[in-house]
Amino acid sequence: MNQHALFDDLLDKLSRKLVLLPDKPEETPESTLRALWMLVAGEPMSVASAMNRELPDLDASQQEELDKVIQRRLDGVPLAHISGRQSFMGMELLAGPQALIPRKETELLAASAIDILRQGKGEGEVRVIDVCTGAGNVALAIAKAVQHARVYASDLSEEAVSLAQMNTEMHDLSDRVVLYAGDLLEPFRNLDLQGQVDMITCNPPYISSAKVPVMASEISEHEPEMAFNGGAFGINLMLRLIAEAPDFLCSGGHLVFEVGLGQGSAMRKQVEKFPDYARVNAVEDAQGETRVIVAQLS
Ligand SMILES: C[S@@+](CC[C@H](N)C(=O)[O-])C[C@H]1O[C@@H](n2cnc3c(N)ncnc32)[C@H](O)[C@@H]1O
Repeated sequence: MNQHALFDDLLDKLSRKLVLLPDKPEETPESTLRALWMLVAGEPMSVASAMNRELPDLDASQQEELDKVIQRRLDGVPLAHISGRQSFMGMELLAGPQALIPRKETELLAASAIDILRQGKGEGEVRVIDVCTGAGNVALAIAKAVQHARVYASDLSEEAVSLAQMNTEMHDLSDRVVLYAGDLLEPFRNLDLQGQVDMITCNPPYISSAKVPVMASEISEHEPEMAFNGGAFGINLMLRLIAEAPDFLCSGGHLVFEVGLGQGSAMRKQVEKFPDYARVNAVEDAQGETRVIVAQLS
């Protein structure tokens, strides 16, 4: 079969059979096919990158391999686990079952953090802690965009930290991004960072435990539960973070964290209960939903 006919044929199959989730809006039948095509051609890449590439011709064994990876995807394996890649803020990252696949929606958190840091105190070093770092996406996006930032990143999952370490090395950012394994801010207590940090960022697990059993199996069966299960109301970690962050932030420092749909106003009220914070702002997504809370220390 010629390559154009093969592409059209497979695109038709994916258009009819592929189940797409709203939390990965960049995945379409076409972008999926392009990413899988590039994978079997020997160049694994995210859908974002694959959309900009001319597809090479595939030989017979690569075509056979393409059928197999398409079937894995139709069986519900996340695309990023098959390709091993995901794009975040224009950065090509390694992805895998060790950590949550970075989501497009979390770019609002990274972009909000970067905006604040860029408006900040000139070119002197700024210290950022990124907790719940997962694959390291938020930490690395900040380090790449803000050259004078030193980022301390951590996660409770050692597997996630290993993946974040690989991403840090792949982007040549090991001199400004250091990784630790541990519970929330615990890894930083021995580093004398109390009162020294300009910003803490976090994309916490925020799905309530009751909702976990009814989540799409593509997520619940393939991504680590620790990455999305946020306890009884989905807010356990956020409440701890709001209470513990002031120990580490310097005067005027910012806590910037992602919230789940519908959690924004409750989290804003939680921040307002703490007199340590002088200001709290909500950042809305394109649909007008609060998805990021920014709290500034007095
Ligand atoms: C929603 S994921 C975010 C991952 C990544 N930052 C991102 O934006 O895609 C939440 C992360 O929090 C981590 N985590 C869960 N409980 C934690 C805790 N008590 N302390 C530190 N990290 C935790 C999980 O392992 C997971 O990597």
